[in-house]
Amino acid sequence: MSGMQIIRSRGELQALADAERGAGRRIALVPTMGAIHTGHLALVEEARRRADRVWVSIFVNPTQFDDPADYDGYPRSFEGDLRACREAGVDVVYAPRPEELYPPGAQTWVEVSELSKPLCGAAREGHFRGVTTVVSKLLLAAKPHVAVFGEKDFQQLALIRRMARDLGFDVEIVGAPTVREADGLARSSRNLRLGPQARKQALALVRALDGAGQAVAAGERDTVKLLAGVRGEIAKASLAEIDYAELRDPESLEPSPATLAGPALLALAVRFSPDPDGRGAEVRLIDNRVLLGL
Ligand code: PAF
Repeated sequence: MSGMQIIRSRGELQALADAERGAGRRIALVPTMGAIHTGHLALVEEARRRADRVWVSIFVNPTQFDDPADYDGYPRSFEGDLRACREAGVDVVYAPRPEELYPPGAQTWVEVSELSKPLCGAAREGHFRGVTTVVSKLLLAAKPHVAVFGEKDFQQLALIRRMARDLGFDVEIVGAPTVREADGLARSSRNLRLGPQARKQALALVRALDGAGQAVAAGERDTVKLLAGVRGEIAKASLAEIDYAELRDPESLEPSPATLAGPALLALAVRFSPDPDGRGAEVRLIDNRVLLGL
């Protein structure tokens, strides 16, 4: 194949998937909502290592936004995204129109009942139902052998793995490590909306994760003490307000026991206010680390 194809129609994409599969080629899909940054490009690289064809979907999924203002304000940069995909050697960009994925009167949802309740699910009503529904539709459209998601959205990845397993999707779900800025902040399209002061203070997240990692390495296993350390670190950032800071089982997402005995997901969501001089917007950032991992 030469040049990158931009496909809007599911039927056309499915026909191409059949042809690629028929020719014995492996397809990897990287689902995105656009605003492609180097974090996404790392997912593309991971996809490239695992397949012959790399397909990227670009779709700002309305059903995963609990706040219409967040949906309207979500950065959209289709031409730039296409350029970035082309430069990264992507073979196909699938950019469906909303009415194709959600035909009028659509009433079918895919929901992972328990994993979608805690953490981001508690604060964002319906968010994960929107994610698992759209990811199902994207998998059915692209028929990939592999689909790659970032580990920054750890809960999302856990849900998608569970959904694929429960529904028997014939696809391997792969998690790719979080890409970070030089100073350690996890890459996100939301970072650009932080004011300059909030941007500096946003390092509180990675400092809190590092602090907990060091404490565990030094032998601390008490979850109350570990979380107190995390909260203390974030409290140093005057513009930050914790949405959640929790230790949970990385697979079931059940709360960790009072004394850690095995791997524990330390998951953080922190809301940053605009700078005192009004620069920047309110931005909610997430980050995580698996402590005592293998
Ligand atoms: O992680 C994202 O960008 C989105 O949640 C996803 C997986 C593309 C579904 O819209």
